[in-house]
Amino acid sequence: MDKKKIKIACVIGTRPEVIKMAPIIYELRKYPQYELTLLCTAQHRGLMDEMLSIFSLVPDIDLNIMKENQSLSALTSELFLKIEPVIKDKHYSLVIAQGDTTTTLVTAEVCFFNNIPFAHVEAGLRSYDFHRPFPEELNRVFTSKIATLHFAPSEEERTHLILEGIRNKRIFVTGNTVIDSLYFLSTHEHPLPFLLPENKRVILVTMHRRESFGKPIKDIFTALIRLTELFDDIVITYPVHPNPHVNKLAYELLSGNPSIQLLDPLPYDAFVTLMKKSYFIITDSGGLQEEAPALSKPILVLREKTERPLIIKLGLGRLVGTQTESIISNATDLLTDETQYQAMAKQISPYGDGHAAEKIVHVINHYLSHDNQPVTLRNKSDKKT
Ligand code: UD1
Ligand code: UDP
Repeated sequence: MDKKKIKIACVIGTRPEVIKMAPIIYELRKYPQYELTLLCTAQHRGLMDEMLSIFSLVPDIDLNIMKENQSLSALTSELFLKIEPVIKDKHYSLVIAQGDTTTTLVTAEVCFFNNIPFAHVEAGLRSYDFHRPFPEELNRVFTSKIATLHFAPSEEERTHLILEGIRNKRIFVTGNTVIDSLYFLSTHEHPLPFLLPENKRVILVTMHRRESFGKPIKDIFTALIRLTELFDDIVITYPVHPNPHVNKLAYELLSGNPSIQLLDPLPYDAFVTLMKKSYFIITDSGGLQEEAPALSKPILVLREKTERPLIIKLGLGRLVGTQTESIISNATDLLTDETQYQAMAKQISPYGDGHAAEKIVHVINHYLSHDNQPVTLRNKSDKKT
């Protein structure tokens, strides 16, 4: 290896981190001055591997962390023990991680302990409730305290960060890289690995949040079953998250219903096709709240609070919680009222224009070539510092 190259590590562990980091990796690879290390914790084993293969990415280091039904404490301690030796004393000029996972927070802390600059992608999202989503809100807030560079999806997140005392010149509004990946994969129709019934409206469902385990999930499933009884022209297509708290109940309570398709998690290319073919989306996912409006799909969010309130403010999605009646009533609005449906089916992408990675790497280039001083991206809040 050329010793003069600038060493950067990109750290990922879960499905969404691969999807959202891939565009940054592709962009960084355009610059020969960098020696890039893809450090994969494999907090998600199967889901991460599937996504790596979609984006033709191969880990340079694989920590193989995942254990069945891992507790947050066990996961956190394992991550600390395994990340530190592969980062410490490796002379990284910058370590980059994304979002709100345990992989991200622990990476940020290890960088802090070892005095390594850390860049946080998807910075500044806030629900202002440490229990919703749990533990992700805490992960985000703590990560922001430590990060050197903060890449925010929109101006709203910049404001959150400034209110928490982060210096404006360290914050860059770039959009979310998930839209880069989404647009990249949307250019082709990728085949679905299963048959969708013809002449039925597809309701796409995903779910995995810890705060919904137990009764909330059962209430959601009751709503799905009732919807199939109320409407004979729908099919509920549900790629089930492998978390045993979700997976076990889903197959116990929903299998055998001819209007509900339970599937294994889909590779991102097929999932994009499925999103496009869906009539609307019911989910507790973070990423889907960014993707659905970019594809003009109404979205019912199975949460009490969201860190992506813009889609609710813009009328593109509704927070429906996890109670059976609320889900049925909001889904019924969309299935029976064309006006309400069309009002939510506008194509607006509040979280990105598909060029987030270019903007992020532009900032990184400047930062690494100017004695670790951040460049200003030309946007309206720049004048304030
Ligand atoms: C994690 C992130 C969450 C993110 C989500 C994406 C944390 C605290 N949470 O939540 O922010 O939205 O990933 O999906 O980091 N499992 C498998 N195979 C896999 C993946 C998971 O079997 O490929 C099972 C395992 O039993 C694992 C469990 O799912 O123990 C939970 O995984 P974990 O990473 O702890 O949390 P998630 O709920 O997936
Ligand atoms: N996704 C996928 N296949 C699936 C379900 C989801 O490719 O079967 C994608 C989805 O488009 C989004 C990301 O995975 O980009 C979201 O992952 P998840 O909901 O697990 O995490 P979150 O976004 O809530 O952190």
